[in-house]
Amino acid sequence: MSGFRIDADRLRDRFDRFNEIGATERGGVDRPALTDENRAARDLLVKWFAEAGLDVRVDGIGNLFARREGRDPEADPVLVGSHVDSQRNGGRFDGVIGVLGALELVESLDDRGRETDRPIEVVSWTNEEGVRFQPDMLGSGVFAGVFDLGEALACEDREGNTVGEELERIGYRGEPVEIEPHSYLELHVEQGPILEDSGISVGAVEGIVGFSWLEGRVEGRADHAGPTPMDARTDALVPVADLIRGVRDLAGRSDDLVGTVGSLEVEPNSVNVIPERVSFTVDLRSPSDEAVEYAVVRVEELVERAARREGAEYTLERIMHVPSVDFEAEIVETVERAAEATGVSHTRLRSGAGHDASYLAGICPTGMVFVPSVDGVSHTECEYTDWADVVAGTDVLCQAVCERAGVEF
Ligand code: GLV
Ligand code: MN
Ligand code: MN
Repeated sequence: MSGFRIDADRLRDRFDRFNEIGATERGGVDRPALTDENRAARDLLVKWFAEAGLDVRVDGIGNLFARREGRDPEADPVLVGSHVDSQRNGGRFDGVIGVLGALELVESLDDRGRETDRPIEVVSWTNEEGVRFQPDMLGSGVFAGVFDLGEALACEDREGNTVGEELERIGYRGEPVEIEPHSYLELHVEQGPILEDSGISVGAVEGIVGFSWLEGRVEGRADHAGPTPMDARTDALVPVADLIRGVRDLAGRSDDLVGTVGSLEVEPNSVNVIPERVSFTVDLRSPSDEAVEYAVVRVEELVERAARREGAEYTLERIMHVPSVDFEAEIVETVERAAEATGVSHTRLRSGAGHDASYLAGICPTGMVFVPSVDGVSHTECEYTDWADVVAGTDVLCQAVCERAGVEF
């Protein structure tokens, strides 16, 4: 046996066709969760799943499951997949290679007429990115019992559309699906520079950083930008400017804490009106949950002090916290064995990005296979991974799933 070898041309063809959906002029994709583009992507996936003879089900939060039966249909299945929602003007690789790689696995098994002991369930999770609806990783969170289904369906986007309404609209609100996963594996781009810098093709992921999202709003007083004296203003944007600087300084003080103010809404957003209201978000991440907790407290202090200096009112709420996760050693070793068996260079590393695997790790042994991101860049249209690395990572994913599902390659 010389290790799993996928059909690289088929995967490439699927990847290119899939990414015609929501393609942007600058080479990315725009397919946020439950948009028309996300519906088109789901429709194509379902078509391919059905053509591959898989049994497709949609659960109550719109996760897609596609089952290939095993020799023992009673055995708990190995779950393998990722997500196909994207950032706004995001990249073509984030999530997509994990789902198409899982489809390639079952097709390659079919090509060879090979059965597995355990069933394989290919999965595509709903709203991993959290760009339109917060929190992110919503589908996997519901599946893993972290979020209540009713509350998840009630999440609203900025226009007030709920997840439930949008799932209905695009035709992907399904019924509960009972699955007790034996294990979960996900192929993903690294989204950071470690693999590229070390010239290694595959990362055996040891765990995922913890992160918190805060959402806040500062209320000032709108007034004319000309005649209003500087000492008579309550400018809602000034405390937020102080906060942005403060988050940068806070994160800069510790190697393992990163912090980002990534979203601002300024009202009325006019060149000659003093800002009345500013909404903002803060994203804080670290492998250390204590470091995240400490940072949350410091951000609360920063906002309080900055608002007080300006005489402004404010609100601040933590809208999400995902604890840091360590994957079980046995599954990290599965990924390493798979890389050895397929002859792919590998190293251990930790994910700085969030993944559905964070929630799956709470209910079953969970592992991830990373492939390099060129220039360490992601969540942008120029996100890129060399095709040879995608193929190598998919071989490793397939080999690892085969070990867990009970078939030798
Ligand atoms: C998801 O992509 C995240 O890391 O925020
Ligand atoms: Mn992703
Ligand atoms: Mn992402």
